[in-house]
Amino acid sequence: MKKKSTHQNLVLIQHPLVKRDITILRDKNTSTEMFRAAVTRISNVLAVEISTAFSLTKSKVKTPLELTEGYKLKHEVVLIPVLRAGLGMVEGFLQLIPDAKLGHVGLERNEATLQPMSYYLKTPKNLGKSEVILLDPMLATGGSASAAIDFLKKRKAKNIIFACLLVSPEGVEKLFYEHPDVIIFSSALDRQLNKNGYILPGLGDAGDRTFGTL
Ligand code: PRP
Ligand code: URA
Repeated sequence: MKKKSTHQNLVLIQHPLVKRDITILRDKNTSTEMFRAAVTRISNVLAVEISTAFSLTKSKVKTPLELTEGYKLKHEVVLIPVLRAGLGMVEGFLQLIPDAKLGHVGLERNEATLQPMSYYLKTPKNLGKSEVILLDPMLATGGSASAAIDFLKKRKAKNIIFACLLVSPEGVEKLFYEHPDVIIFSSALDRQLNKNGYILPGLGDAGDRTFGTL
């Protein structure tokens, strides 16, 4: 279901249902409602794949018949959507990890310079002891993701995973260069960026398509 790509910091999710859903996201005729639903389904799969490596502690549980062994996640999980578009991935992750805490990073890419501008940051305490999952559907130039990871590391986050829907080769390389410890889980690796910093073939503007602001 997952495959190491030629980029050593990238895990690509290879699943027929995910490929079907990526196609729905790419289609310019997909409605906002269908777009959101497909983002949630892919986020479910990403949550399963990312959590495969999480540590467990043993616990006891009483069934109606007897006491038996159970398990709990060893570390708290913190989801950090990058505003706005990352918000669309939250529901799919919470369906699998309902007790996750949430932080928010507000970043907007300046369309002329392509540099990310920060406008909001709020995170739970103890990031250093948590499994931190950064959520953003698009890794284009990599400027936004790299800035978001800088913020999280300044707040002592150590185990950071980046969950994404589409990545460009340029963005993956930038993240590897600036944050080699962060593994990217993505449902697709696209061809290239265009001169405006959009991913090709891509899906357009993820925020606009998620929120209907086209
Ligand atoms: C999009 C996307 C990423 C960023 C990726 O957000 O959700 O955060 O662009 O581009 P980069 O890798 O070149 O930095 P955008 O800035 O459009 O903001 P929005 O989510 O509010 O629409
Ligand atoms: N942000 C998007 O929403 N889409 C892109 O293709 C690139 C950056």
